[in-house]
Amino acid sequence: MSEKNYIIAPSILASDFARLGDEVKDVLNAGADWVHFDVMDNHYVPNLTIGPMVCKALRDYGIKEFIDVHLMIDPVDELAQSFIKAGADLISFHPEASKHIHRSIHAIKDKECKVGLVYNPATPLHTLENVINDIDLVLIMSVNPGFGGQSFIHSSLEKISQVRKMIDDSGKDIRLEVDGGINKDTIGLASKAGADTFVAGSAIFNTENYEQTISELRSKIN
Ligand code: DX5
Ligand code: ZN
Repeated sequence: MSEKNYIIAPSILASDFARLGDEVKDVLNAGADWVHFDVMDNHYVPNLTIGPMVCKALRDYGIKEFIDVHLMIDPVDELAQSFIKAGADLISFHPEASKHIHRSIHAIKDKECKVGLVYNPATPLHTLENVINDIDLVLIMSVNPGFGGQSFIHSSLEKISQVRKMIDDSGKDIRLEVDGGINKDTIGLASKAGADTFVAGSAIFNTENYEQTISELRSKIN
């Protein structure tokens, strides 16, 4: 699905929201590949963030790079359509937040937008089996969703390996993304387990020199 082997996707949740447009430009200029856009509804998760208007505002501000929208919302379908109109390139959602997973996937794909499924640390993978051929990305959460700055949950590595195998067996071009607690100590563990797309929020935005941080993270991928 993507031109590059490894993708670094800074989570803007950890950016300075008062300067969001410039933060996104800075991190992309510093070598980031995607923009990871966390959407929380104070219902599916106990926190509230940003919606489609902010995604459109970034597009209007001149952001042309890939916007990876991570929906932590219930229900999924209506806001997913709003994000497509707002310029999202990929929308991923948590299967337990949709009553009809196959329908939600295809409602996104029908609009020429890429789609992903997200699994929390305790969410089983069985919903993936029947739709793996329909999706572009699997996102494994290595923290419980809702907040940035949490510690990496090591049992997620086993899950990443399991999904790596499922993807390889499918023979499809599906990205395997990991999200939560990714930093210079954990990114190598996640890549070894099979991840190829890495979300990092606080590990990037809480540093002074984004370029140096991103190249340091990239150097730890193996
Ligand atoms: C958590 C979000 C993550 C979060 C990651 O619910 O989905 O994308 O921003 O933040 P860090 O990298 O600080 O764990
Ligand atoms: Zn996320």
